[in-house]
Amino acid sequence: MENNLKLMRSGRVIKTYYSKRNTVQLLQYRHGPEEKFIILKKHRTLQGAEAEYNTLVHLNRVGLAVPAPLGREGKNLYLQYLKGELLVDVLENNLVPRPAWTRALALWYYTLHSKTASGGGTVMLKADNNLRNFLFRDGVVYGLDFEEIGGGDPARDLGQVCAYILANRPAFTAARLAEASAVTRQYQLLNLEVPLERIEKELILELRQMAQRRKELSETIKSFIDSRQNKHLL
Ligand SMILES: Nc1ncnc2c1ncn2[C@@H]1O[C@H](COP(=O)(O)OP(=O)(O)OP(=O)(O)O)[C@@H](O)[C@H]1O
Ligand SMILES: [Mg+2]
Repeated sequence: MENNLKLMRSGRVIKTYYSKRNTVQLLQYRHGPEEKFIILKKHRTLQGAEAEYNTLVHLNRVGLAVPAPLGREGKNLYLQYLKGELLVDVLENNLVPRPAWTRALALWYYTLHSKTASGGGTVMLKADNNLRNFLFRDGVVYGLDFEEIGGGDPARDLGQVCAYILANRPAFTAARLAEASAVTRQYQLLNLEVPLERIEKELILELRQMAQRRKELSETIKSFIDSRQNKHLL
């Protein structure tokens, strides 16, 4: 481990990613004849780095598609570099046919929830469900960013991710609605215990919070919710 850390520490920064809270970089280093790539995530707090490292160890062990944690040194986390396209870009630029990514995303959530169920309907939740926290590659969705993970009702993750899908540019189109519905349907095919009504309740809660945060979307969000009074949203 110490040797690996020394090598990883020697990596040079070749890219810095968009991140609101931390510093996330792609590093390259030489290991014998090979060029290796890894991610360095510099957390703001030691607690944050430890929590994310431990969560990733656990999720790797249960077989969820997440980056392998390669090491931690104080607030610095070294992670497996995953190639792929961020889901924000997949949606914005139509990079992948809808059934491929919606099915893969639903399967990712189902795997997280089913492998971490702890009785009473409580599971481990992704919690930070924005589409910059997911990569798509070769038919598989990978989850990133496990700082905010917590326990609760799986409907919350589904409702929240549907809100992010609807708000992805171009926002609130018929195509976005079809995508959010497809993720929900695909998830329900795998897990019938999460009814549509609960998912829609969480979706409305998240949309209302989004309307507060994103003033430019607040009118669109209000009319979207109003136009569906007494009807299914998804
Ligand atoms: N293992 C990885 N492989 C490839 N890219 C990654 C990996 N981890 C992070 N990234 C890239 O870095 C970005 C930021 O990562 P992450 O969300 O973990 O950081 P963050 O500091 O929590 O960001 P934010 O505060 O904006 O949510 C991701 O959107 C992705 O583009
Ligand atoms: Mg993030």
